[in-house]
Amino acid sequence: MPSSLQRKEMLHVAAIMDGNGRWARARGLPRREGHRAGIEALRRIVKAAPDAGIGTLTVHAFSAANWKRPPEEVADLLKLFEQYLDSETEALVADGVRLSFIGRRDRLPENLVAEMTRTEAVTEWGDALTLRVALDYSAREAIVAAVKSGVTPGPDVDLLIRTSGEQRLSDFLLWECAYAELYFIEKNWPDFAATDLTAALTAFRARERRFGALAQAAE
Ligand code: IPE
Ligand code: IPE
Ligand code: MG
Repeated sequence: MPSSLQRKEMLHVAAIMDGNGRWARARGLPRREGHRAGIEALRRIVKAAPDAGIGTLTVHAFSAANWKRPPEEVADLLKLFEQYLDSETEALVADGVRLSFIGRRDRLPENLVAEMTRTEAVTEWGDALTLRVALDYSAREAIVAAVKSGVTPGPDVDLLIRTSGEQRLSDFLLWECAYAELYFIEKNWPDFAATDLTAALTAFRARERRFGALAQAAE
């Protein structure tokens, strides 16, 4: 039986992929190499996600505030995203990954937007994992846009992981994380491995989510 039929849980896990720059600096490498290694980590986590019980994985790749970075770094990042889409689509289709994007598209380069739209169409039938990538994303902007259009912003997050030791949300999925369990890990994103994902999910499963009600034992 394919593992997709054995899965019971369909968790929504979100990840703030932070620490690429520090990973590179610790190795005497340019920040660009950290971002490149970050993409490799994303590949590994996407592969591991379905068997870990994850139905939807939303990752933060580029925030609306990241435009404040030097133009060379922004250009490197945008080029890396385009290369990722170009080289990864076939593997995503083969693995049953449906890829979609959240965030603004009107400030991104045309070539990248075309590649994003193409990948979304090509991977549309993937049913092993929904991978959502946040690009030029601001949760506050998304909430305002959703309120204006009369729809709620997005599916609730079960578990939010942030790497690199930072313990903040940085304008990521503020609405969707209303009752998310938060998990912070010191490792930088390029070092985040499938075993770290498993450890995060083990910690998540050991927590009691009460959603404002009483603990099970107290009922
Ligand atoms: C995350 O790593 C990637 C992006 C924000 C695009 P950083 O680039 O923020 O790495 P640090 O936080 O400087 O180490
Ligand atoms: C959040 O990381 C955005 C992404 C990981 C894409 P940042 O590195 O931009 O966040 P701050 O500046 O430390 O809050
Ligand atoms: Mg950072």
